[in-house]
Amino acid sequence: MRVLITGSSSGIGLECAKKFLATGHEVFGLDLKPSKIENKNYHHYVVDIKDGDKLPTIDKVNIIFNNAGLQNSKDDISNNLKGTINVTEKYGIQEDIKSILFNASASAQSGFEFPEYVASKAGVVGYMKNVATRIAKYGATANAISLGGVKTDLNKCVMEDENMWKQIMDATPLKKWMSVEEVAEWVYFLTVINMSMSGEDLLIDNGEYKLNSSFVWPGYNK
Ligand SMILES: NC(=O)c1ccc[n+]([C@@H]2O[C@H](COP(=O)([O-])OP(=O)(O)OC[C@H]3O[C@@H](n4cnc5c(N)ncnc54)[C@H](O)[C@@H]3O)[C@@H](O)[C@H]2O)c1
Repeated sequence: MRVLITGSSSGIGLECAKKFLATGHEVFGLDLKPSKIENKNYHHYVVDIKDGDKLPTIDKVNIIFNNAGLQNSKDDISNNLKGTINVTEKYGIQEDIKSILFNASASAQSGFEFPEYVASKAGVVGYMKNVATRIAKYGATANAISLGGVKTDLNKCVMEDENMWKQIMDATPLKKWMSVEEVAEWVYFLTVINMSMSGEDLLIDNGEYKLNSSFVWPGYNK
């Protein structure tokens, strides 16, 4: 399959590109930064997905993982939402498409985190549903993943701060964050194996949002 991944130069996108290459797919990566991947089946484009008219021509894309994103920049909405729309409209709405997966965020469901980041990711979830209705006629699916904490450079500032890390783990029922390798497994399943779920946003956050409400009652201990 011909797989397009945005934000493929680091973190989650890089690991997903490696996963698709290791499983025999051809990968097209778009990123602001150059790539470290050297593989004959990998094609890299240094481009800003906000610049819709500068996106390269790539024909017959079968799978898109809309992953590129910034957190708490001055530009979260145009970067994370408008950039994602640019990519999807250019490569996704055509008869060879099989699946499109959007990397949203747990914050799109909970509302916690930076205001424009939350709005950009909640916008991505709404847009994903619109895309799902438009590509169903090709037999293709569109879904989103709303991840909680993932161990990437984006989060170094809290992962390397002992006090903040303790507070985060206290609020995380499974007492861990995801690895990029686990995210890549989800991405692979949802884009290659899944053929029946479409229009869904999956919360994958170690129980942080849904398991933290409490029940106060005599004799009840969580
Ligand atoms: N790491 C987490 O805990 C976490 C949690 C929830 C959601 N996410 C989302 O996952 C995605 C990837 O995050 P990550 O942790 O791997 O971050 P990262 O910073 O390691 O990787 C993001 C990549 O996207 C690229 N990028 C950003 N804006 C771009 C643009 N306009 N055009 C082209 N490339 C662009 C960056 O250059 C970078 O290589 C983001 O959308 C982020 O919001 C991450």
